[in-house]
Amino acid sequence: MAIKPVLKMGEPLLLDVAKKVDEFNTPVLENLIQDMQDTMAALNGAGLAAPQIGVSLQVVIFGFEENQRYPDAEEVPFTILINPELTPLSDETEDGWEGCLSVPGLRGVVPRYRQLHYQGYDQHGNSIDRKVDGFHARVVQHECDHLQGILYPMRMKDFRTFGFTDVQMSD
Ligand code: NI
Repeated sequence: MAIKPVLKMGEPLLLDVAKKVDEFNTPVLENLIQDMQDTMAALNGAGLAAPQIGVSLQVVIFGFEENQRYPDAEEVPFTILINPELTPLSDETEDGWEGCLSVPGLRGVVPRYRQLHYQGYDQHGNSIDRKVDGFHARVVQHECDHLQGILYPMRMKDFRTFGFTDVQMSD
């Protein structure tokens, strides 16, 4: 197990499109996922994508029962998602606050699809196929954006909401 340094915005690797995983059930994949879990837990993250620890592969993890960073968010089941494909279930979007371990100390309001169908695989190659909404849908979109080289500020529409988490904002 190892807590890895998280790459911060400005690192070119965070802007790359990650490669698909072509082999499941391997020690390399297990080690990567363990490192991601250890790192996410140590930093109280709601999710983490492999490129954030410097590995340009299509692997994300997310989920929590309660999260200090998102105190009002509903529970999201812990999930390991590999080679994901996302399909919005409608055009409806919803604004919500996001932060990112690669953009430490900041937050901003990001529009995301409200309802989402996502598919992919776990580390053993078992299929994952879910329809979700709300914060679960938001977290999946945020994490899977990392695999396309997209950080949440690139999705923001109103930069007046972009600010430091330790500054009280009036809504
Ligand atoms: Ni992030």
